[in-house]
Amino acid sequence: MKTLLRTHHCGELTQTDEGKEVTLNGWVSTRRDLGGVIFIDLRDRYGLTQIVFDETNKELHGKAETLRNEYVIGVKGTVIPRGDDRINPNLVTGEIEVAVSELVIYSEAKTPPFEIKDQIQTNEDIRLTYRYLDLRRPEIQKNLMLRSEVTQTVRNFYHGLQFAEVETPVLMRSTPEGARDYLVPSRVNPGRFYALPQSPQTYKQLLMVSGMDRYFQIVKCFRDEDLRADRQPEFTQIDVELSFVNEEMIYHIHEELMAEIWKKHLGVELQTPFPRMPYEDAIRTYGSDKPDLRFDLPICTLSDLLSDCGFKIFETTVSKGGDIVAITVPGLGDLGRGALDRLTEDAKRETGAAGLIYIKVAENGHLCSVGKFLQEETVQAMIDRADASAGDLVLILAGPSPQVYHQMGILRLMMGESQKLIDPDAVRFLWVTDFPLVEWDREEERFFALHHPFTSPREEDIDKMKSDPEKVKARAYDLVLNGSEIGGGSIRIHDAKLQSAMFDLLGIGEEEAREKFGFLLDAFTYGAPPHGGIALGLDRVIMLMTGAKSLRDVIAFPKNQRAQSQMDQSPGVVDESQLKELHIQLRGKALTEQGS
Ligand code: AMO
Repeated sequence: MKTLLRTHHCGELTQTDEGKEVTLNGWVSTRRDLGGVIFIDLRDRYGLTQIVFDETNKELHGKAETLRNEYVIGVKGTVIPRGDDRINPNLVTGEIEVAVSELVIYSEAKTPPFEIKDQIQTNEDIRLTYRYLDLRRPEIQKNLMLRSEVTQTVRNFYHGLQFAEVETPVLMRSTPEGARDYLVPSRVNPGRFYALPQSPQTYKQLLMVSGMDRYFQIVKCFRDEDLRADRQPEFTQIDVELSFVNEEMIYHIHEELMAEIWKKHLGVELQTPFPRMPYEDAIRTYGSDKPDLRFDLPICTLSDLLSDCGFKIFETTVSKGGDIVAITVPGLGDLGRGALDRLTEDAKRETGAAGLIYIKVAENGHLCSVGKFLQEETVQAMIDRADASAGDLVLILAGPSPQVYHQMGILRLMMGESQKLIDPDAVRFLWVTDFPLVEWDREEERFFALHHPFTSPREEDIDKMKSDPEKVKARAYDLVLNGSEIGGGSIRIHDAKLQSAMFDLLGIGEEEAREKFGFLLDAFTYGAPPHGGIALGLDRVIMLMTGAKSLRDVIAFPKNQRAQSQMDQSPGVVDESQLKELHIQLRGKALTEQGS
């Protein structure tokens, strides 16, 4: 069978091409037989072109009658104007059609399990099982094309600033980024495992010690963690590190990068510099370290008004060091009893709070759900603090701090969404800064690094690392867009002694630190420049740019919520002989799941 080499793709022919002899290749998207004349929408990655077969050539017409959706064909023909009644103003090619003189059928196709078009209601499992068909749909193709173009912009941007693109190993020693590692057994080193990188963090720092100076990489990272719509087990980072740098330089470079991407690919002019917010303020005002600033509804603290108010729940909360916090939702002041009960149940379920207290504010007074336990002046003081006026509903949570802020942060997002307070076109970037260096984990009874163990404490806080670790601020920052964390980074520790002190604070003993990170500590003793960097989540950036609801819509072959590929059924069962070679014996549940 001969292949007709195309002269044009299916998204480009217009009136100016009329009269031209052209060759097109593609998939049959739709086929209509109108009394002998057969119209086909031929589809490729670039668009649709209508092709026509009339009855003058009987053999050709007969062949066209056998065509079905998703057949792959090549056609030769002449570009002619469409009849006035057939003009489609929504298509670039909508004013022309191609009168076919030659047809080659490259491949027949079974009826696909779902229609190849946008806005289908098909269950995602089926789409992922037949991902190669799903990827034929224009909206997913558009997402992947945008991703490809943005990637090119990113590459050019960094190259233009003298960053070197360096590939780092995929088989490596584990780097702690807070998730579990994917492990790879070594056949030639029995009982030993590589880890797939959660990020190339240690390598990029070693590149700085090597004098590489400015590094970037668009790199796959792997994290075995609980999955959500914005988390995939393998995802792509735009990973960056620079020597002789400070926070300002990193902010500036990445504001420029974002501005260039938004302008070039979305035609949107971003306002720079981006605003900044200390972590503490983000938690206290928005109940989140990644506040969505597309709407307001700030949280206010009422604790100081209620420490001695006579209502047990409030008094105990305050005496135990907890907080009472509120948001004011406009327009809900007249919500009825049933709706308030439903809101309370939803809030409890989504936030994990024990209960929800409210004050309905009206022209002629107010109604507080716990009003009978409180003085009138106290309720009025709460309303004033919450800046509520007639028609508003004040929602109040009480509980241990900072959890109660996080709970209120979730309720704030719920109300923002349900009350349609979020402007869908808004683009609100934010740097969150001044993170604590470490956080106490009550269950494990030890400190954890809020970013990672290589993050530098603020110079002025170093002497508090032993005496008051929770007060130490890190030189770390996150880049947040519309309530999603799209990047994070820090200025690093470049001193072996300080790095050892950090490991010590994290309960990583000297021996363990040497065993796991000896190479890094050693490297720091051979002349390490001050350095810092950032990693942006490429998948998340593209998801937000396209308005997709899930990372799966911007990744060609994603995993499902159980970290499985529906299409190739990975992770899969392996042969006993392969396991033996890898010195691995399955135990317990793994044995049953393998069906042995
Ligand atoms: P961090 O862990 O914050 O930092 O990751 C950087 C960015 O990567 C994205 N991201 C993810 N995207 C999709 N699925 C996931 N499972 C996932 N996990 C993270 C987020 C996040 O902001 N080495 C440091 C960076 C540095 O310090 O330079 C790091 O990996 O958008």
